[in-house]
Amino acid sequence: MKKQPGWALPDLKAAQVRTNRQSPIRHEVFTLPEQLRRLGAGKKYYLRTYGCQANERDGETLAGMLELLGFAPTQETADADLILLNTCAVRKNAEDKVLGELGSLKRLRKTNPDVLFALCGCMAQEEAIVTTILEKFSHINLIFGTHNIHHLPDLLYRVMVDHKQVVEVYSQEGEVVEELPVKRFASHKAWVNIMYGCDKFCTYCIVPYTRGKERSRAMEDILAEIRSLIQAGYKEVTLLGQNVNSYGKDLHLEGGFAKLLEESAKTGIPRIRFTTSHPWDFSDAMIDVIARYDNIMPFIHLPVQSGDSDILKIMGRRYTIEQYRELYDKIRARIPDCAFSTDIIVGFPNESEGQFEKTMAIVDYCQFDNAYTFIYSPREGTPAAMMTDNVPFEVKQQRLARLNEVVNRYARLRNEAYQDRIVKVLVDGVSKKNPHVYSGYTETNKLVNFTNINAQIGDIVKVRITECKTWSLDGEQVMD
Ligand code: SAH
Ligand code: SF4
Ligand code: F3S
Repeated sequence: MKKQPGWALPDLKAAQVRTNRQSPIRHEVFTLPEQLRRLGAGKKYYLRTYGCQANERDGETLAGMLELLGFAPTQETADADLILLNTCAVRKNAEDKVLGELGSLKRLRKTNPDVLFALCGCMAQEEAIVTTILEKFSHINLIFGTHNIHHLPDLLYRVMVDHKQVVEVYSQEGEVVEELPVKRFASHKAWVNIMYGCDKFCTYCIVPYTRGKERSRAMEDILAEIRSLIQAGYKEVTLLGQNVNSYGKDLHLEGGFAKLLEESAKTGIPRIRFTTSHPWDFSDAMIDVIARYDNIMPFIHLPVQSGDSDILKIMGRRYTIEQYRELYDKIRARIPDCAFSTDIIVGFPNESEGQFEKTMAIVDYCQFDNAYTFIYSPREGTPAAMMTDNVPFEVKQQRLARLNEVVNRYARLRNEAYQDRIVKVLVDGVSKKNPHVYSGYTETNKLVNFTNINAQIGDIVKVRITECKTWSLDGEQVMD
């Protein structure tokens, strides 16, 4: 790989640094110069997003910008003039999927020599990955990172008109840029970013390096967005941040996330969700607000990661398992019908059988409605990746299988409690499997497939649960 003039390449050292500087919040910076307005006219784009909701939300901004440039969407890579992969770096298997895809997409050049390949998202922020991509996949035309997605029109201009290979990745976050174009994936529920980045630096995690430091949006900007979503007919918003509990700390905002939640509830939108909450700074004020407002959904994603306090300490999670249990009990006591999901990592370096048993024990204790379980994946540049590890991979796989078995059992048990109950469901649309069946989610985030009377997407309907499965409920709509 030969670095070209004008390139900005990712730099791991720079990504590790945190400054005290407050990130400026900028309005009205996104403009489309005349020469860019028809850049995509008559052309099609294929966008594929991997990873978390923050990345999904970025995907909506990317799609919004591309359509402003005149591009039309396509689901077929063979029809596309531009293929954009919005990537995730959280585990090696996420990266491998993208690298495989990049390799297999190359063949499209044979039938369409003008097709453009672009890569963005968290993998673009990784120094080693970008070096590999530039060496092995020289067919790629454009690489840009998570901090400059709003430069897409200009970057595409350089690729399409100046015919350059462009790499523009900044390793330090810039401004909070407001009012970017957006093409939302649904017309009844929406993602709303409340903050970007993460400062927790859990020792296994790449996100603080790929997303930069914690930067909050102004409360009035978030509330204005929710109000305009209400006007547009939206019924549900999900407030997004790597750790939403930290909302407002960088702005020295009084009241923090609890205040934002309360103000969001007061807008009157029928449903508010939020993700993710770190167990460390989940405040009593937050529990109180969630309990008091009917339109804040009783569903909490509370990643535990491990059931062993020593492992939690090495992970840099800032809580002991006793503190996690206390928090869980407190929320349960105040919000009895609350549903919980969690994230769990097995096979962290040197995890002993006894430590793993403690993870099984916390699952027994909390009986989660759902759990996302992962085998630990070393991420270059993180402290955990430097630790020696005495746990063979087969043992990690066996632990994951054992864990999944109990996770599934409790998921089913929690669902069985819904038998014959009448629940409120926000209708998403027709079930993928059966055109006579509608689907949607309960307040507690349970997927329900139901036969309908007269449901429309975006309605909140009452459904009687007739059958409970591990990952979904079946039911029939009932009238008031
Ligand atoms: N900010 C969120 C989620 C971040 S990533 C939070 O703190 O909860 C989502 C999940 O991926 C994490 O909760 C963790 O369980 C998992 N994860 C992150 N890094 C990982 C790694 N290196 N190996 C395996 N799983 C990982
Ligand atoms: Fe990663 Fe921890 Fe931040 Fe979550 S809180 S994004 S796990 S560093
Ligand atoms: Fe993946 Fe980046 Fe999200 S690493 S989980 S897409 S913040």
